[in-house]
Amino acid sequence: MHVLQPIFITLVLAYSQIKGVLGIPGSAAPLVISSSGGWDGPDGPWSSFDLGAGSNIQAFRGFPALSQSLYILPHQTSWCGGTDQIEICERRGSYQAGDSTSWKEAGVYDLGDDLSPFTLSGYPPIAYLGLDTIIWGKTSIDPQFERQWIAQIVSEDFPMALIGLGTGVYHLPNGTDGGDVTSPIVGLRENGTIPSITYGYNAGSFYRNQTASLILGGYDSARIKNLSASASFSMPSNQNTTLIAKISSVGLNTNLSGNPTELDTPFLARIESAVPQFYLPLNICHAFEEAFGLTWDSTLLYYTVNESSHKINIQRNSSVTFSIGENDQVTKLTFPYQAFDLQLSYPLIKEVNTSI
Ligand SMILES: *[C@@H]1O[C@H](CO)[C@@H](O)[C@H](O)[C@H]1NC(C)=O
Ligand SMILES: *[C@@H]1O[C@H](CO)[C@@H](O)[C@H](O)[C@H]1NC(C)=O
Ligand SMILES: *[C@@H]1O[C@H](CO)[C@@H](O)[C@H](O)[C@H]1NC(C)=O
Ligand SMILES: *[C@@H]1O[C@H](CO)[C@@H](O)[C@H](O)[C@H]1NC(C)=O
Ligand SMILES: *[C@@H]1O[C@H](CO)[C@@H](O)[C@H](O)[C@H]1NC(C)=O
Ligand SMILES: *[C@@H]1O[C@H](CO)[C@@H](O)[C@H](O)[C@H]1NC(C)=O
Ligand SMILES: *[C@@H]1O[C@H](CO)[C@@H](O)[C@H](O)[C@H]1NC(C)=O
Ligand SMILES: *[C@@H]1O[C@H](CO)[C@@H](O)[C@H](O)[C@H]1NC(C)=O
Repeated sequence: MHVLQPIFITLVLAYSQIKGVLGIPGSAAPLVISSSGGWDGPDGPWSSFDLGAGSNIQAFRGFPALSQSLYILPHQTSWCGGTDQIEICERRGSYQAGDSTSWKEAGVYDLGDDLSPFTLSGYPPIAYLGLDTIIWGKTSIDPQFERQWIAQIVSEDFPMALIGLGTGVYHLPNGTDGGDVTSPIVGLRENGTIPSITYGYNAGSFYRNQTASLILGGYDSARIKNLSASASFSMPSNQNTTLIAKISSVGLNTNLSGNPTELDTPFLARIESAVPQFYLPLNICHAFEEAFGLTWDSTLLYYTVNESSHKINIQRNSSVTFSIGENDQVTKLTFPYQAFDLQLSYPLIKEVNTSI
């Protein structure tokens, strides 16, 4: 069986908030971050980035998170403890603050609603907040930044590192060493490492064998096929970079010779690059079930697709079209069935060797 659980794979998010951060001279160039070349994630495979932390570089693989404003690193936890999971945990990384002489702990915090989109349970996890060195790569010659804010999180909801690309500020309780939490991208802009608070992120795609692209302080124009087909959305504020898009209709194309089923019930969708799951209105979920032969697994809380439905979807060249934007500014994004054909792995499913 296969799991239906896609992301906006080809959506390039390039946005600019240059206003308000003026007057920094210099010849700063955009920072091009290479992907790890590997494919990761318990709900993937997704193209990941290498990340290092601490005085003796501890290696992680992670993904950008659009609405977060710090680095989130998985902490050693019980889910990582079983002998058969050690290889998986080593690959994803598990932060050991005690092994880093540069770690400076600020305290234990509840990051509250900011983390709720990531948690299936709805309960925000506890974070150990502090400062340490971050390396954008895995060796000492890669770009290295000192005193970066890190949240260590002990939860199965955070089995991979996350790289916050948001510009928001967390206000820490008074008296906390280090003051307010400066986001990675704002810190780099303030000291002139990058030319602007702009970034371009393309998540890449496994089925097209295209790795992710991430540029801080710029974007890769080669990854944008047609700029006039872009859609614009306002963010709530400079401090809140939550991306909310209007989906004006969803088209299900399951019949080579027939017309797509158009579901014209507009809704607002929050786009967070580190959350690949689609959460859609119930009537649209039911239409997906019908059109693609899906089965709801009430234990996993995921739709699965069995071998026979999978074959039919491939034969019919099934696809989904999201019309994003409104009025005269609607962009259509079409995802072939292959983009939804993903596999769950540990810790989302407990037995390491089971693929569903
Ligand atoms: C910019 O700041 C980071 C940490 O915030 C530091 O590691 C880096 O060396 C700084 N770069 C410059 C050019 O000051
Ligand atoms: C924390 O500091 C801010 C700004 O200095 C002040 O307005 C606020 O009253 C302080 N809060 C507490 C609980 O001390
Ligand atoms: C995927 O892309 C990489 C890098 O471009 C290449 O080395 C590899 O052969 C490709 N794999 C397939 C299956 O096409
Ligand atoms: C680019 O997008 C615009 C707006 O959707 C469309 O009118 C135009 O035909 C597209 N151009 C190409 C080359 O696909
Ligand atoms: C950011 O804006 C979104 C959308 O308006 C809102 O739901 C969310 O609560 C805001 N987040 C914070 C931390 O204020
Ligand atoms: C595909 O659409 C055509 C025309 O609307 C219809 O006659 C045919 O029964 C449909 N086939 C399937 C498999 O739904
Ligand atoms: C596959 O799943 C579909 C949709 O739930 C169901 O109708 C069909 O009977 C299943 N096929 C098999 C062989 O289990
Ligand atoms: C399958 O659909 C895509 C668009 O979703 C189209 O480009 C492609 O030509 C189709 N392939 C076949 C075999 O019909």
